[in-house]
Amino acid sequence: MSERKIYHFGKQWKRSGGCGELSAGDEGKRVTLAGWVKKVREFGDLTFVDLWDRSGLVQLTAEVGKPGMHRIFRSLKSEDVVAVTGKVTKRPADMINSRMATGEIEVEVDDAEIFSRSKVPPFNVTDKGKVNDDLRLRYRYLDLRRDSMQANLRLRHDLSICVRNFLSGENFLEIETPMLVRRTPEGARDYLVPSRLQPGKFYALPQSPQLYKQILMVSGCDRYFQLARCLRDEDLRADRQPEHTQIDIEMSFISEDDIFDIAERLMKRIFSEVMGIELQIPFPRMEYDEVMSRYGSDKPDLRFGLEIIDCTDIFRDSGFGAFASEIETGGVARGISFEKGASFSNSQIKKLEKTVKGYGAKGLAWLKIEEGAISSPVEKYISDTEKKELIDLFGIPAKGSSLLLLVAGAKNTVEKAVGQLRVDLGTAYLTEGNREFNFLWVNRFPLFVRSDGGSWEPAHHIFSMPLEDDIGLLEKDPGGIRGHLYDLVCNGVELGSGSIRIHDRELQERLFSVIGIGREESERKFGFLLEAFEYGAPPHGGIAVGVDRLSMILCGESSIRDFIAFPKTQSATSLMEGAPSEVEDELLRELHIEVIKGNDREE
Ligand code: AMO
Repeated sequence: MSERKIYHFGKQWKRSGGCGELSAGDEGKRVTLAGWVKKVREFGDLTFVDLWDRSGLVQLTAEVGKPGMHRIFRSLKSEDVVAVTGKVTKRPADMINSRMATGEIEVEVDDAEIFSRSKVPPFNVTDKGKVNDDLRLRYRYLDLRRDSMQANLRLRHDLSICVRNFLSGENFLEIETPMLVRRTPEGARDYLVPSRLQPGKFYALPQSPQLYKQILMVSGCDRYFQLARCLRDEDLRADRQPEHTQIDIEMSFISEDDIFDIAERLMKRIFSEVMGIELQIPFPRMEYDEVMSRYGSDKPDLRFGLEIIDCTDIFRDSGFGAFASEIETGGVARGISFEKGASFSNSQIKKLEKTVKGYGAKGLAWLKIEEGAISSPVEKYISDTEKKELIDLFGIPAKGSSLLLLVAGAKNTVEKAVGQLRVDLGTAYLTEGNREFNFLWVNRFPLFVRSDGGSWEPAHHIFSMPLEDDIGLLEKDPGGIRGHLYDLVCNGVELGSGSIRIHDRELQERLFSVIGIGREESERKFGFLLEAFEYGAPPHGGIAVGVDRLSMILCGESSIRDFIAFPKTQSATSLMEGAPSEVEDELLRELHIEVIKGNDREE
């Protein structure tokens, strides 16, 4: 017998409330509920159904003496969609489920309608058990039905509302900037959109609203914000997606301190309202040079110490030739002391060696100190005095135990290699159960870095203001210029980034020329911004905080995917609807585009 299909949701099924909202206080009330079946259990003559909607779960029983109801209940399967009416009753004392919010009651159902049947889901739609990531993305609508994902969507909603309320209360205006923009390089690759009406021309999707927010300052908007969608065609990682959202802020007539202040108070408000966590502000600040030498990273995780210590002087004239020769040619020797490492096996240490070699270091020298006694493959090259100096420098107590991990080589390589050791060991051994939020401002970043090809490129973006003292270096030593550039870091994650901007055409053009953009090119690419600067540009600056990363940090997670309703895979595809996809030839013709397919493509 085929089942009658119900296409319309009749008025009689209008819900009296949510499944998870019922409690013992509702005993005796008649209710109408609708949702998804989670579980059907049969006990002799009795059938129980767990019904779920976004508010939670409630147990239904078919009223005794209603055989039709029992038949319906027994036909139900997980994820079927039903509506029911019935009476809230208290469960017998031995049936109370204290792990369930509605565990004291159940609904005795006397009428039900099945609106939709579900196929057997490809995975268990609960938070129990680990499900393959690709399967979750392919069936995202089922994945989002899980309580933890519903909670994540809720958190993002709460966060957005909180941001809007706070910034609006601080006299900021929310202004939307366009999604179809002129291609203005900002570091990553652009997503391009062909124009149908202008053959051969392309819009770009914005990597961020950077130039528009600066122009809004020229327009006198003074305090702008936007929950801005940004699109970047870049290599993806756990904290990077091709589309992300920023709390994008720009202000006029301000200094760096004003930006720090607004961002700190915004963070305090979000943590308090969304999570009930009270943050201490202001956040500490550290200059780029200092964080790099102490932590080997521009986004140090300060939930643990493991500071990097410079031991160049100890090895300068040492018999340990591998280190002494690096130092002689201008290199440094640095390392960390990791107490828990005193019990590491050789294979554990080998893995650490692989890590530093991955950063270009020639090797890893290690000394194991167990209750004051030293063992090390390089022990014979290190004199007793040097050993004692090392133990004192790294602060290892007499009879103490630790593993000293040392690397020598070029400063940049050593910083990065030891920095990665610090992060790997700290995250693996020192952060478990730690629910602290260690914020830090890192400022005074270098304005320019060398590209792989040897030319200069902006460390952040090209619109950032050099420190007053360093402007003179623009034509002489671009690598030595520090910028009014800052990052907001929390637990080893770059949450936000910003700068004080240049508001003067001539200075902006000097910066362009450092990165090889001459007059003609700057006019072509950025002429509109440079021109705007000639009509009364106020001093201004801003910041953008990543919403996806912030949500991830708030929940102590390590991937932003769970905080984006429909994220992409590592290769920037969407498994649910199959994007990107090929399009009809007819459409391509309309857009004046020819696709070079498969073998025809020149490599
Ligand atoms: P930036 O490029 O540093 O700065 O981005 C600001 C913040 O946005 C987040 N973010 C990302 N989140 C997820 N996936 C990505 N691919 C991704 N890229 C960036 C990070 C980052 O700190 N226009 C400047 C801001 C400014 O100067 O005001 C900008 O976009 O949390």
